[in-house]
Amino acid sequence: MCGIVGYVGPKDAAPILMEGLRRLEYRGYDSAGIALARANRLKLHKSQGKVQALEAILPERPKGHLGIAHTRWATHGEPSDINAHPHADGAGRVAVVHNGIIENAPELKSELEASGVVFTSETDTEVLSHLIARSDGERLEDAVRSALQRIQGAYGIAVIAGDQPDRIIVARNGSPVILGVGDREMFIASDAAALVRHTQQVVYLNDGEVATVTADGFETSTLDAAPVHKTPVEAPAALDDYDKGGHEHFMVKEIAEQPDTVRRMLQGRLDLRFNSAHFGGLNLTARELIDIERIKILGCGSAYIAGCNGAYVIEQLARIPASAEAASEFRYRNPVIEPNTLYIAVSQSGETLDTLMAVEEIKRKGGRVLGIINVVGSTIARACDGGLYLHAGPEIAVVSTKTFTSTLVGFALLGLYFGRIRDLAPTAGETLIRALQALPDQIQEILDDTSAIETAARFCARARDMYFIGRGLGFPVAQEGALKLKEVSYIHAEAYPASELKHGPLALVTPDTPVVAVLPDDALLDKNLSSVAEVHARKGPVIALTHPGVRCEAADHHVIVPKSVPELDPILIGVALQIMAYHCALILERDIDQPRNLAKSVTVE
Ligand code: G6P
Repeated sequence: MCGIVGYVGPKDAAPILMEGLRRLEYRGYDSAGIALARANRLKLHKSQGKVQALEAILPERPKGHLGIAHTRWATHGEPSDINAHPHADGAGRVAVVHNGIIENAPELKSELEASGVVFTSETDTEVLSHLIARSDGERLEDAVRSALQRIQGAYGIAVIAGDQPDRIIVARNGSPVILGVGDREMFIASDAAALVRHTQQVVYLNDGEVATVTADGFETSTLDAAPVHKTPVEAPAALDDYDKGGHEHFMVKEIAEQPDTVRRMLQGRLDLRFNSAHFGGLNLTARELIDIERIKILGCGSAYIAGCNGAYVIEQLARIPASAEAASEFRYRNPVIEPNTLYIAVSQSGETLDTLMAVEEIKRKGGRVLGIINVVGSTIARACDGGLYLHAGPEIAVVSTKTFTSTLVGFALLGLYFGRIRDLAPTAGETLIRALQALPDQIQEILDDTSAIETAARFCARARDMYFIGRGLGFPVAQEGALKLKEVSYIHAEAYPASELKHGPLALVTPDTPVVAVLPDDALLDKNLSSVAEVHARKGPVIALTHPGVRCEAADHHVIVPKSVPELDPILIGVALQIMAYHCALILERDIDQPRNLAKSVTVE
C-alpha cells in the first residue's frame, strides 16, 4: 500500500526520492508525488498513475537538498493528481505525506472549514497539513506534535516546511516509519526496501514517537516531547534481496528461492534427539501447552489459506481441535476468547490491519497469541506474545509464494512440537522430520523440470473460468492455487472441496471450464478419482496434480510432483500451482508483480 520516502543532506534530493519510490512500487499504489524544499519555498509535483508518470512531469533537474515523496493507494477519494500526496496547507508552507487513516478527519475538516480553511483534495491527510500550518508551535516538530494530539487513527507521516528547510519531522502510530542513517545525510522511509541502497544503519520508530531528522542526525521523542534515546541497528535485508537477480519477475525469483527459504525455515528447529521441534521465541512452556484445548488461526488472503492448512496439520499431528478464520471477519463479530485456546496470527508483512486488530482484540480480552510472521520487528510481530519468524527475506511480488510455503512448513513444525508433547509417537515424529528435511530437494526437482506445468498453463490460459478441487488437506492448497491464478492471470477461478462438487458447481462444468484436481496419493485418492470422473463425464477438461504411479484416466493433463508424507504433500503441490499461475500470467502478458487493484500489505480496513 502507500509508501513514504524522504531525504535531507548535501545531494540533490529528487533522484534519491524517485529511486526510493521505485523501490516501493511493489507495495501497490495508484498515484505518486514529491515535495522539495528550496530557497525557503516548497515545490510540489503530483501525478495519478505510476512513478514513471510522475517522472514525466518533473522539471529536468529539480533542485533541493530536502524532500519527501509518496506512493498512494486510494482510500479517501479516487486516485487523481489532486488527491495524490504530498498535501500542503493553503499557503503552501507545509507539506505532509501520510500512510494510514485519520478516523476523525470529517469532524476536524468541518471545524477547519468553519474557520475559513479551503480544502483542495478529498483526502483525510489534508486535515493534517492545515492543522500543522495553523499550530502556534514555533519549531516544526512542535507544530506537528500539537496537530497529532488532535488526530485519532493510524499514521506514519513525514512533514517538511519551506521556512525550516533543514529538517523532516516524522511520526508513527500504527504505520511503520524507519530512519536511515548516512554520512552527513539522513533518509526516511516506510519500508527498508527504500533505504538499503544508501545505508545499512536504520532506526525503527515505535508507536507514539516523533523524530526530527536533519542532515547531521536525528532526535526522537514522545508525542509529549519527552526525549527517547535510540541507537541505529543493522538493516534486516541487503540490496540484493530487492533485485530480480536475473529473473524476469520477482514472482518467479521468489518461487525459485524456495529450496533455500525452506532450508532456512528448518534451520535450528529440528530436534533430532526427541524427534520433535524447538523454537527460540514461542514463550510457552510444555506445561502451558498441555492445557491448550483448542487452536484458532487467523490471517488474511494467502495467510488465511495457509492457516486453513495449518489447522488441518496441527489437528492431525497433535490431536488438538484447530480451525482457521479470516482475521477480517473474526475481528468484527465480537469473538468469544477462551482461556485455553491458543491463537495464532499469520502475516507475511506483519502489517495487515485486520490481522493486527484481531490480535489486539484477543489480547484485550486476555487471550494468548503466537505469530507466524516474515517481517522481523513488524507491528503484528511486536503485538504477539511469541511465535516464529519465516526468515524468507523480503517478498516483493504482491502475490505471496515463498512465504506461503514457509508458513506451511512452520505449521508442520508446530504440529510436530505440539504432537510430541502429546500423543505423537517418536517414530511418527522421526518420519515427519525426514520428510521435512527432504523438502528442499523435492522443491528443486519441481523447479528443474516445469515442462508439464507449462503445457497445462498454455491450456488454462485460454479459459475464462476455472475450478480447483481438492479434499481434506488437498482443499486449502486448491484454494491457494485458485487465488494465485486469479490474482496474477485475472482468470476467474474458484476452489471447491471435491466432495461438494456435485452439490452445485458441477452445473457449470463444460468443455470450456478446466478443472484443476489436487490428487495426492493418499487415503482419499479413490474418492478424489470419482470426483474427477464426474467432471470428465461432463466433458470438463481435467488437469491432475498428482504423484508418481497414480493413474487418472480421466485427466487431460498430468502434473506429477514428488511424494512426501500426507501432511507435507500440499507444500509440493502448492509450488507446482504457483508455477502454473505464473506461466498463465506470462502467456496473458499480465502485470505479474503488481496485479491491478492489489496491494502487498493492506494497512487499511
Ligand atoms: C494482501 C496481499 C496478499 C496477502 C494478504 C495478507 O491482500 O495481496 O497476497 O496474502 O494481503 O498479507 P500478510 O502480509 O498479512 O500476509
